[in-house]
Amino acid sequence: MIHPIISGNKWRKLKEYIGLAQINASNSIISFGGAYSNHLYALSYVGNQFNIKTIGIIRGNELSINSNSYLKQMSEWGMDLHFLDRESYRKKIIPEEIETENVIVIPEGGFSKVGVLGLEGLKNELNKQIQADYIITAVGTGTTAIGISKFLKIKTIGILTLNNLTEIEQNSQEFDLDNFLEIKTNYIFGKYAKDSQVLNEFCDTFNKKHQILIEPTYTGRMFYGLYDLIRNNYFPKNSKLIALHTGGIKLPH
Ligand SMILES: Cc1ncc(COP(=O)(O)O)c(C=O)c1O
Repeated sequence: MIHPIISGNKWRKLKEYIGLAQINASNSIISFGGAYSNHLYALSYVGNQFNIKTIGIIRGNELSINSNSYLKQMSEWGMDLHFLDRESYRKKIIPEEIETENVIVIPEGGFSKVGVLGLEGLKNELNKQIQADYIITAVGTGTTAIGISKFLKIKTIGILTLNNLTEIEQNSQEFDLDNFLEIKTNYIFGKYAKDSQVLNEFCDTFNKKHQILIEPTYTGRMFYGLYDLIRNNYFPKNSKLIALHTGGIKLPH
């Protein structure tokens, strides 16, 4: 609920980059993502609002700005979109025609020390409201979960949403997390964003029951995992849990 477009963890992961870009000679940010990337969608809007030039490198050279309404919207917000074949994208090759001098590069999904720093503010926001024993969050690059365990110093349960445990473990090693972070790998549902009837039904029921929107890719997998852990008595009795809604709801426009 931070903002309709820069929602959930997107604002936290991007906020530290705004000042950095503004003091940088090029005032530009490059980042990477798929055709439906929440991260790039939020970044393009941030660029538009803060007058920062944004360049989005999109996976798939068969795509164009007209391939879906989000890409079109990102382009209208001023993001310069480049479509890369999958092999070049995997290697994160920045096309030669893009000027890269003094340009800030945000890795795919926003993982970096700068991104993790943006989670610090959450500590004060939460501490004012609740002292919890556990916090549960969806994990993509791990930026959010790492930031939480680093700054909140409470047991953090990360529900992994894609098959990248090794990457998360590597990312975590860059920080001193004192074993606060535990990653759960049972709720990936095959692979990233794979459609599942069980998950879709879970999200529909949850949305109707609580009037809180969740989507299957991140927050749906997270709440599904959380309920499963509760059912299996993972948490000691009377534990206080925070489930962190990381956004990802793209409102129709
Ligand atoms: C809605 C939503 N929740 C959670 C995540 C995962 O966050 P992180 O990459 O910080 O692990 C993402 C992806 O970035 C996301 O879009």
